[in-house]
Amino acid sequence: MKTLNEIRSTFLNYFEKQGHTVVPSSPLVPRNDPTLMFANSGMVQFKNCFTGVEHRDYTRATTAQKCVRAGGKHNDLDNVGYTARHHTFFEMLGNFSFGDYFKTEAIPFAWELVTKHFDISPERLYTTVYHTDDEAYELWKKIGVPESRIIRIDTSDNFWQMGPTGPCGPCSEIFFDHGDKFWGGPPGSPEEDGDRFIEIWNIVFMQNEQFEDGSMRALDMQSIDTGMGIERVAALLQGTNDNYGTDLMRALIEASANATSSDPDGPGKTHHRVIADHLRSTSFLIADGVMPGNDGRGYVLRRILRRAARHAHLLGVQDPLMYRLVPELVRQMGEAYPELRQAQPLIEETLKLEETRFRQTLDRGLKLLDEELTGLPEGAELPGASAFKLYDTYGFPLDLTQDALREQGRTVDTEGFDAAMAEQKAKARAAWAGTGEAADQAVWFDIAETHGATDFLGYDTETAEGQIIAVVKDGAQAEAAETGESVTLVLNQTPFYAESGGQVGDTGEIRTEGGRVRITDTRKIEGVFLHIGEVVEGQVKKAQSAILEVDHARRSKIRANHSATHLLHEALREALGAHVAQRGSLNAPERLRFDFSHTQAVTPEELARIEAQVNAFIRQNTAVETRIMTPDDARALGAQALFGEKYGDEVRVVSMGQADTGKGQDGKTWSIELCGGTHVTRTGDIGAFALTGESASSAGVRRIEALTGEAALAELRGRDVTLSTIEGLLKAQGTEAVDRVKSLMEERRKLENEVAQLKREIAMGGGGSGGGAEAEEVNGVKFLGQALQGVSGKDLRALIDAHKQKLGSGVVLLVAEDDGKVAVACGVTDDLTDKVSAVDVLKAAVPAVGGKGGGGRPDMAQGGGKDFAGADQALAAGRAVLEA
Ligand code: ALA
Repeated sequence: MKTLNEIRSTFLNYFEKQGHTVVPSSPLVPRNDPTLMFANSGMVQFKNCFTGVEHRDYTRATTAQKCVRAGGKHNDLDNVGYTARHHTFFEMLGNFSFGDYFKTEAIPFAWELVTKHFDISPERLYTTVYHTDDEAYELWKKIGVPESRIIRIDTSDNFWQMGPTGPCGPCSEIFFDHGDKFWGGPPGSPEEDGDRFIEIWNIVFMQNEQFEDGSMRALDMQSIDTGMGIERVAALLQGTNDNYGTDLMRALIEASANATSSDPDGPGKTHHRVIADHLRSTSFLIADGVMPGNDGRGYVLRRILRRAARHAHLLGVQDPLMYRLVPELVRQMGEAYPELRQAQPLIEETLKLEETRFRQTLDRGLKLLDEELTGLPEGAELPGASAFKLYDTYGFPLDLTQDALREQGRTVDTEGFDAAMAEQKAKARAAWAGTGEAADQAVWFDIAETHGATDFLGYDTETAEGQIIAVVKDGAQAEAAETGESVTLVLNQTPFYAESGGQVGDTGEIRTEGGRVRITDTRKIEGVFLHIGEVVEGQVKKAQSAILEVDHARRSKIRANHSATHLLHEALREALGAHVAQRGSLNAPERLRFDFSHTQAVTPEELARIEAQVNAFIRQNTAVETRIMTPDDARALGAQALFGEKYGDEVRVVSMGQADTGKGQDGKTWSIELCGGTHVTRTGDIGAFALTGESASSAGVRRIEALTGEAALAELRGRDVTLSTIEGLLKAQGTEAVDRVKSLMEERRKLENEVAQLKREIAMGGGGSGGGAEAEEVNGVKFLGQALQGVSGKDLRALIDAHKQKLGSGVVLLVAEDDGKVAVACGVTDDLTDKVSAVDVLKAAVPAVGGKGGGGRPDMAQGGGKDFAGADQALAAGRAVLEA
């Protein structure tokens, strides 16, 4: 018996030998398709190769592709657990030709693999062709399939389309006859939906492209896209008709049975099957970056998980179950899909969290459901309002309620449910408008209400396709925008980060078939991402598909700065104390800024230590980890949260750096923070870190500015050049240069003192400007008036005292100027203060030099002015006081 893992490698090896490149599965969230919720077949990652838009360095490829069919065109959720072949997650094996081989090779490849390598008896195989496809018909005939077992089908069953748009074409399928112990008829017969004849392989002859308006064009090249559901082939090769009987599914079912101490094939059989299937889809979705949410993909994940949780509950287990089954899933599939192993902790934590929370309301919800059913006639529909109450109060998605009613043969009035939902939205809207917040923001609310939140893909990718759901000009929705117009675009999904948490919004470009928009900023309102920019070429229209490309170089600088901020935050706490808390931050491409609570300036020694520590963690080059948890769990882990910030039910926790034992927030990890921003993959990606500034930001808050990567190196290099220049001028190196600067400063201080002393001497009569003034007798009092240049106010008092001493008895009036500042001072010897006050003389003098006031005591008064040209007049005015 071949195990499922062996079947996968047999398939891939076969096609590798036929010249195909083995390409890894693409992520479940398509990067290259705006219309698809999840990858739903192998060809999704090659969509653009078929249309000729994209060229790879191979023209033959083979894959085992992860697929999810839940939500969107192909949705199997409702049937999972109740049938033999419905799954939300499955793997599709495929071989592809991009303009390389076509029907004549594809058909024999399929036949050889199925009959020779999988050893399936040709007698049990049937094939189908599109009713007009004679070529495929003849090829099957030639290979030996009897005409009685080649069936022409004229329905869409044999015309394959990925979704509403994209490459498509007629197809040819291989069916296996499980024998007459099963009911059913061959394809095309009225009994075709039975379990007897099962399609195992679909070969699509890709030759058309379908457009939004319903039209179709012939593709330039003819290509091949095939799909073989691995679970079906495994079933038939393992002698069962039931996909859930295969080795892999059985292992998961048994894990579920063991964990719940129940019989895998007993009354709980359906529950185990639901759990086994949902375990795969939820785990793989989380591994590919989808997180439970209330919109879009996140909501599909939540719905699947809640459905699983209800079935686990029905098995009678009290504690969350799903996360306990992850190790078995990783054992089964971790080798083929390493991403599963890598994300195992994230998957387990997320599943546990979601299930724990849902279980808190599950019991009460189920009780309410019972109450709503009592009194309803047998088999009657559940009113929409009741289903809505379950949804709104207990988080029961509509399909979960439907699932719960299924066993009783009841349905839900879905129209009533929709009406209740619409009514609630209208109320929310009225309440919101009532806050008077923003008539001018109404347009965003409209968009949020109609389309829901924008799906953010930017943690994993910086380029993606999206669909334009709104074109907004001057605050109002429009159909299109033309070259030169300012515009805000809203798309269903985006890799552009919208400004928040200190990280600036992304810039970049959005391109459609007919136009190009330069995006200069990204913001978000009500979960709607606004791409703000200008049309630089052609025209962009609502409902168009677009390629969104973030400015990669800029984003990677922002990323480095943001991660460095986290390392810095912890280094500050380590150096300065646990009181350090973030008060604000800016993570821009060109620099980072971090404000934190601390009352003193950080010393140069502390700064040097902090800078060195951040650089040490950069060199450590450990992986940056992201997890989702409740705010309480995050705090318990020691995560740093922003003071006063409101957090939702779930938070993103970013950790980096391996701390020395006992350091960091949990004794192992250096930095753990709640953060919605984008970060480097490994700390080494930051490159380097250089502090450029430390200052006071406001009372009790310090601000640090820094650079990373190339900018940090340029800064350090620049400082080095400055230092070398200084060393050159001083003719001294390093610490010697520092000593030299210190002695130069000391010398300068001495010289300044000497100069001041000399100036005083000159003023006292040593010569020079204004020096050597003689005292004269005025009204019997000795008066000395002198105007001095190059003497500062602070030297006047000493001069006055010296003059007073020299005169023995008299009045001294000095007007001095230095550096544009004019100072006036008057001194009166003590024997004369009864007769004349220095204050009066001064007050009389200052107006002439443009001064006001001044004052002091009768023996000494000082004042100032600004106009030295009036110095002689001032002296005369002072002298006049003695004459009176
Ligand atoms: N893309 C084709 C399918 O999914 C092969 O069936």
